Amino acid sequence: MYFNTAALAALLLPPASLANAKPCHPCSPKPPAFILAGDSTTAVQAPGGGGWGNGFLSFLQSPPAWGVNKGHNGATTVSFVKGGDWATVTQLIDEKNAEGFQVWVTIQFGHNDQKPDKNISLSQYTHNLVNLARTVRKHDGHPILLTPLTRRSFPADSPHNATDSLHNERLHTIAAAEKSGTAYLDLNAASLKYVDSIGRDAAHAYDLKEGDLTHLNDWGSVVFGRMVADLLLESEAGTCLGSWIRRNETLSRAIREGVPA
Ligand SMILES: *[C@@H]1O[C@H](CO)[C@@H](O)[C@H](O)[C@H]1NC(C)=O
Ligand SMILES: *[C@@H]1O[C@H](CO)[C@@H](O)[C@H](O)[C@H]1NC(C)=O
Ligand SMILES: *[C@@H]1O[C@H](CO)[C@@H](O)[C@H](O)[C@H]1NC(C)=O
Repeated sequence: MYFNTAALAALLLPPASLANAKPCHPCSPKPPAFILAGDSTTAVQAPGGGGWGNGFLSFLQSPPAWGVNKGHNGATTVSFVKGGDWATVTQLIDEKNAEGFQVWVTIQFGHNDQKPDKNISLSQYTHNLVNLARTVRKHDGHPILLTPLTRRSFPADSPHNATDSLHNERLHTIAAAEKSGTAYLDLNAASLKYVDSIGRDAAHAYDLKEGDLTHLNDWGSVVFGRMVADLLLESEAGTCLGSWIRRNETLSRAIREGVPA
């Protein structure tokens, strides 16, 4: 008996509706290990830097979940690799996999990549993010790209319309996610919407120090860390993470409703 290839394929393939259905993966019993890669808007609170990273990690059910903040003040997608931080991240992915964790790596850059003296074009930025995400997967980790946390800079006459200064980096982070088939969290849009809603004075309550419209103080880290946790839990990538990330409905509601937390 003779089948041509098309007929054979028709016999072997399930009906279209089944072929398009998402495979149903059971959740891994492994606890997550989160490695946070990025610039100062992810980094630990310190003079000259401080982001959402530690606030996010404070919501992990740890142990058994685990996390580390590898945000580096002043880092770009180039310097993070050249300066050795990325090698630390990939080594940690291997170690945490060997220890029995499911490893997640958040990747958030843009604040420094956009500075003219760094000479990093948007296409280079996209390309670098694609490479970072692919490298995480090569090491059996789960990459998540984040669009950059908004700055809290408002034009004098617009206390509810912060300057959208990372617009291009947002779009190119999303492009990198789509190009590499990577999950992304749109932190830029969520944080911009939130600070626009609460307004300038309330937004400045999160400033690392007076006049620092980029970095977050301890409380800002908790609030924007909660925002990241909620974006992750609501995303398809985060479907299985609900038992490892603690809830705080008080904070989540304030963020959702756009009132100061
Ligand atoms: C900026 O980068 C481009 C492309 O890599 C290079 O050709 C150029 O020389 C660089 N300019 C400076 C000032 O470093
Ligand atoms: C916010 O400012 C931008 C840039 O000036 C402007 O295009 C936009 O319409 C403003 N949005 C609102 C809601 O006022
Ligand atoms: C939620 O966070 C707020 C602010 O940190 C805290 O006061 C409150 O105790 C938290 N609630 C729960 C249930 O953890």
